[in-house]
Amino acid sequence: MKYFIGLDIGTSSTKALLISENKIIASAVRDYPVYYPQPGWSQQNPSDWLRASLATLEEVTAGIDKSQVCAISFSGQMHGLVTLDKNDEVIRPAILWNDGRSEKQVEYLNNEVGRDFLLDCTGNIAFAGFTAPKVLWMYENERENFDRISKIMLPKDYVAYMLSGSFATDVSDAAGTLYFDTGKREWSKPMLEVFHIDETMLPKVYESDECVGYLKDEIAARLGFGRVKIVIGAGDNAASAIGTGTVDNGSCNISLGTSGTVFVTCDSYECDKINAIHTFCSANRKYHYLACILSAASAQKWWVEDILATQYDFSQAEKYAGKSDVQFLPYLMGERSPVNDSNIRGAFLGLSMNTAKQEMTVAVLEGVAFALRQNIDIIRSLGADIEKSKVCGGGTKNRLWLKILASVLNITLEIPVLEHGGALGAAMLAAKSVLNADEYSAAENEFYKVKETVEPDASLVDFYNEKYKKYLRIYPAVKECL
Ligand code: XUL
Repeated sequence: MKYFIGLDIGTSSTKALLISENKIIASAVRDYPVYYPQPGWSQQNPSDWLRASLATLEEVTAGIDKSQVCAISFSGQMHGLVTLDKNDEVIRPAILWNDGRSEKQVEYLNNEVGRDFLLDCTGNIAFAGFTAPKVLWMYENERENFDRISKIMLPKDYVAYMLSGSFATDVSDAAGTLYFDTGKREWSKPMLEVFHIDETMLPKVYESDECVGYLKDEIAARLGFGRVKIVIGAGDNAASAIGTGTVDNGSCNISLGTSGTVFVTCDSYECDKINAIHTFCSANRKYHYLACILSAASAQKWWVEDILATQYDFSQAEKYAGKSDVQFLPYLMGERSPVNDSNIRGAFLGLSMNTAKQEMTVAVLEGVAFALRQNIDIIRSLGADIEKSKVCGGGTKNRLWLKILASVLNITLEIPVLEHGGALGAAMLAAKSVLNADEYSAAENEFYKVKETVEPDASLVDFYNEKYKKYLRIYPAVKECL
């Protein structure tokens, strides 16, 4: 039997998924911390990703014939800035996708370098989450560190480099840097100048399913593996699209992970002239629209674990769905799509002496659903016809949330049989590099089965349409008050 492994370098954990040609064999997870050293900052230690990757690789292959592991590929949290010096030592903690420190640099880029220039060169405008504003922040605020940079890379590419020695990235992740020409699928020379980046600091760019090297001999020997291909893989949203079968033009995937994303595949390159959402390359040689809200399952986690200090039990909350006027603005880390505002913060509205905590729980779930709807409405206005969507990510375990989301969006949600999102997409990219076309399409047929659909609840749709109109008025009002 041939084995393939997907490593998903996530924000809260790394997950390894072991598959054979068309079956899931095992999975393993290791958590690690995110550090918030200042309000709006968000950092991680790249060594934690590597340690977690090695531990999960070992765990997931315990008990199999390890010599049959053929290929490893990656799904990675996007946009994180990892910098290495000339000895390949990490210079400073990685600055993550949900870090808002580069607000000033974003303003400079969008207003002085100019949105039109950025759109022409990259297909996107600047958002604080993207890699490039962080590079500029480092140049302006940590010049000594900046001057030591020999390599700039993204989170999954750091792990791939440590495992293989190949300095590589893929088109989907590179597109999230803002120094990549998304349309042409190559680094953008004019943008590199803006960011004081010499091209030698950047990895070679591959398509997501390409083999970039082999697992280092000493690591393979330690793990008991033979010769294992390293396939570069994709940013987590593009990898999840592969894992959920969001591969045809117009198909949609919504991820309820730490972030919430809406991903719509496009056969050709189109960019959003409204400047609200992103245009990136896909892992199947196409393009996609991506909208990212910074707090999705993380808003649920904050509310349930940190504030209520309770368990994930929504049985008492359901009765408030479609009944309550309490609103929640989920901007706990600022917001990316569509408002592009690092300084905004979250809010509850409409509380009274009678407000129960479960009612506020429902408001949190609805607020995230409204934030996703705002983005879907924009993607629809760009011409996409979204009638149904796959869903993935930890938040899908909450069936009440899915019912609310289907009703807020008024579309059918499809839950794939295998809820492994990015890790499965990565494992499939690994498999693609080894299997022939027939074998790979047999795997797709197996992995893309839908387990369950969630339909909008007709009794909620009108209520949510009205509540959503009011939700849209909250952001401008809160912005005025902060
Ligand atoms: C996408 C984004 C997030 C991260 C988190 O633009 O920033 O989805 O990839 O994993």
